[in-house]
Amino acid sequence: MSHLVLNGLSKSYGGVTAVQSLDLAVERGEFVSLLGPSGCGKTTTLQMIAGFVAVDRGNILLDGNDLVSVAPNKRGLGIVFQSYALFPHMTVAQNIAFGLEMRGIDKAERETRTLEAMALVGLKGFADRYPRRMSGGQQQRVALARALVIKPALLLLDEPLSNLDAKLREEMQSELRQIQRSIGTTTILVTHDQHEAMALSDRIVVMNHGRVEQVGAPDTVYGRPASAFVASFLGKTNVLRGTSDGHGKVSLGSLSLAMAGAASGPVQIAIRPERLAFAAVGAAGLDARVLSRVFQGTHWLLTAESAAGALTLMRHNDGHPVPAEGEAIRLSFAPADASLLREGAAG
Ligand SMILES: Nc1ncnc2c1ncn2[C@@H]1O[C@H](COP(=O)(O)OP(=O)(O)O)[C@@H](O)[C@H]1O
Ligand SMILES: [Mg+2]
Repeated sequence: MSHLVLNGLSKSYGGVTAVQSLDLAVERGEFVSLLGPSGCGKTTTLQMIAGFVAVDRGNILLDGNDLVSVAPNKRGLGIVFQSYALFPHMTVAQNIAFGLEMRGIDKAERETRTLEAMALVGLKGFADRYPRRMSGGQQQRVALARALVIKPALLLLDEPLSNLDAKLREEMQSELRQIQRSIGTTTILVTHDQHEAMALSDRIVVMNHGRVEQVGAPDTVYGRPASAFVASFLGKTNVLRGTSDGHGKVSLGSLSLAMAGAASGPVQIAIRPERLAFAAVGAAGLDARVLSRVFQGTHWLLTAESAAGALTLMRHNDGHPVPAEGEAIRLSFAPADASLLREGAAG
């Protein structure tokens, strides 16, 4: 059985549904991100797992045991928030050792484990420093060490890097991933940053309006989005409008595609800008006209209009000529790169 199982987890605040019947199974050692826009219920989900927010309906099984009625401090979980929430009057070592003290662990073991945790997060030599004399990145390392020192069953991270500047955030991302790999603690990260989720996770749970839109490996949710929402939330994408004949054929403007699974009628197809190519001379394709062309160094970004809708495409700056504004073009793509989007999930 999975390490952590969320079953029909639901939470409302007054009339506002924060989380709606959320199901998720997380394997031991997995790094899973809850990704979605602000207000979609990520923090509420994490707080229910942590025990700080009461569950309305559903259960939370850790190794098969329901946590719902277990007090937060008895769940044995490590938690790191966006705000570091360190004790300002305590040194780094005292901050980290606090959870061990609460658990009645003796002094000698506390010291050993605190030093280990400090080494793990790259804070050797900082034992006697006070948090106010540390940078944001260093303070977040202390918060991480404090969460890990208790050897938690789960590590829960709520936007832990979003107070850091872009460069430091990237460094901390790869370090966090490395630390998580080395200790193997099952981890759930809450983030609204698609790049962070893709860089760190084994799997991403894309959420919208308190519901799960899609769960999958980063390259799957990016490359095979299940809904218009997922397609547009993760990176740039083209959502093209076409018509299905209900027998495996979809017409997109001047292009006819083999695409199984669509009922007859209007359909939406997602295709990434980097997966659109110019059709070979004489070959079938989607006819379009270039609206704009912007040079971005490593590549060109073109926008175009077609009978299937507006398009963005990316051309590597490989020295070949690039069509100018107003020029007619014909586009093609591999059918495997196009995703048939689920009905009614846009927005
Ligand atoms: N304590 C609360 N009281 C009332 N509404 C809340 C509370 N916490 C969250 N909400 C609402 O629940 C929804 C989900 O919030 P949250 O889980 O914080 O989203 P996220 O972390 O994805 O930004 C939002 O509409 C939010 O306004
Ligand atoms: Mg949040």
